Amino acid sequence: MKNIESYINQHKDRFIKELIELLKIPSVSADSAYQKDVLKTADAIKSKLEEAGCEHVEICKTDGFPIVYGEKIIDKKLPTVLVYGHYDVQPPDPMNLWTSPPFEPIIKETELHPEGAIFARGACDDKGQMYMHVKAMEFMTSTDQLPCNVKFMIEGEEEVGSKNLGTFVKNNREKLKNDVILISDTGMISKDTPSITTGLRGLSYVEVEVTGPNRDLHSGLYGGAVANPINVLSKMIASLHDENNHITIPGFYDKVENLSDDERAQMAKAPFSLDNYKKALDIEDVYGEKGYTTNERNSIRPTLDVNGIWGGYTGEGAKTVIASKAYAKISMRLVPHQDWEEITELFKNHFEKIAPNGVKVVVKPHHGGQGYVTPIDSIGYQAASKAYEETFGKEPIPQRSGGSIPIVALFEQELNSKTILMGFGLDSDAIHSPNEHFGIWNYLKGIETIPLFYKYFTELSK
Ligand code: BES
Ligand code: MN
Ligand code: MN
Repeated sequence: MKNIESYINQHKDRFIKELIELLKIPSVSADSAYQKDVLKTADAIKSKLEEAGCEHVEICKTDGFPIVYGEKIIDKKLPTVLVYGHYDVQPPDPMNLWTSPPFEPIIKETELHPEGAIFARGACDDKGQMYMHVKAMEFMTSTDQLPCNVKFMIEGEEEVGSKNLGTFVKNNREKLKNDVILISDTGMISKDTPSITTGLRGLSYVEVEVTGPNRDLHSGLYGGAVANPINVLSKMIASLHDENNHITIPGFYDKVENLSDDERAQMAKAPFSLDNYKKALDIEDVYGEKGYTTNERNSIRPTLDVNGIWGGYTGEGAKTVIASKAYAKISMRLVPHQDWEEITELFKNHFEKIAPNGVKVVVKPHHGGQGYVTPIDSIGYQAASKAYEETFGKEPIPQRSGGSIPIVALFEQELNSKTILMGFGLDSDAIHSPNEHFGIWNYLKGIETIPLFYKYFTELSK
């Protein structure tokens, strides 16, 4: 496209400054203490969409945080791209592990980002990646190069399950009608190995509560004679994997699609260094399901992980006590064809069944969502591939990711459209962790690549 490089060069300092301003607003959707800030972020997105050339920009109320919608329809006969992103962020804790405050963005150089990276909660997930689309839009409208229609839908509840977005989509099918959905909320293999995400895992998230005696007990007077909920919960959780790290819940694997040897061989071609992987995480060895590689374990295979576990005395020093209750939060990452509600049900039945006499077990389902895979022969994928080829000088590799964006499967179901996941983050960007960051090189590369997607998508749609 004409002048994209010079446009970015000329405006990059402002692009960075604007993102930094957005990152200063702590839009944590999970914590009601930040409610005002989440709403303030929605207002900021509205102005930014207007500045970028969107029309009819509105803040759509939901039962939760609002959805910001805007569009630019240039010709009804041309294809329409729907951009989705989220302006909410994960809670910043644990605060003491941040080297600079999470909502006071600063630019620092890292080994992988010698050009500098912006450190802040949401820098990569997803404010930085979402804002690439706003700036790409600005470039296209201000240089009169927008080749098709665009709709923006930016939500504020992705990190808490997108429940209200689901309702919004179901109630606004006509408004959201599109030919392809474009999202930057995933990652790529590395700066010199571009990749397009072709799959996301589904998710079932549950909380369990194990209750033993009706009150906390002296662990000497009662220890050994009644079920200790923490001991029991630990044993129950441990039994959910067998010696090969297969999940033991009956029926759990019934619908899992097994990839052919050929598909697995294709996957194995993606560049990957186990040594670097271990080094980056400071672990002596990897761990996981027998018979699968690291890249398979974290993408095409379902998993079960404890995300938090608590109960009893955790304060300073020692207290001799048998707690009345023990709790855990457990997530299961699912692969396409596994139905998250069915898996939640299987988990619940199994977990209640394996509880020994002497304790009561309650399983409380949280949110969930279906997995997603998209074919690489679609016009959308081809357009994205051509865009990357032009800006990276290399054909991108299709790659299935281990993360989840549950709304993507719902988009396909309700709007009947495919989603193209053009992610520009790196695994080392520490999303959801302390010191989250987003490389300035990645940010600008995204702004450069996105307009080409529009160009090729429009051309290939003819
Ligand atoms: N952007 C992530 C998902 C992601 C990151 C997918 C990197 C692929 C690569 C998203 O914001 C996220 O964190 N999703 C949650 C699920 C949601 C229901 C809370 C997740 O994957 O844990
Ligand atoms: Mn995200
Ligand atoms: Mn996230």
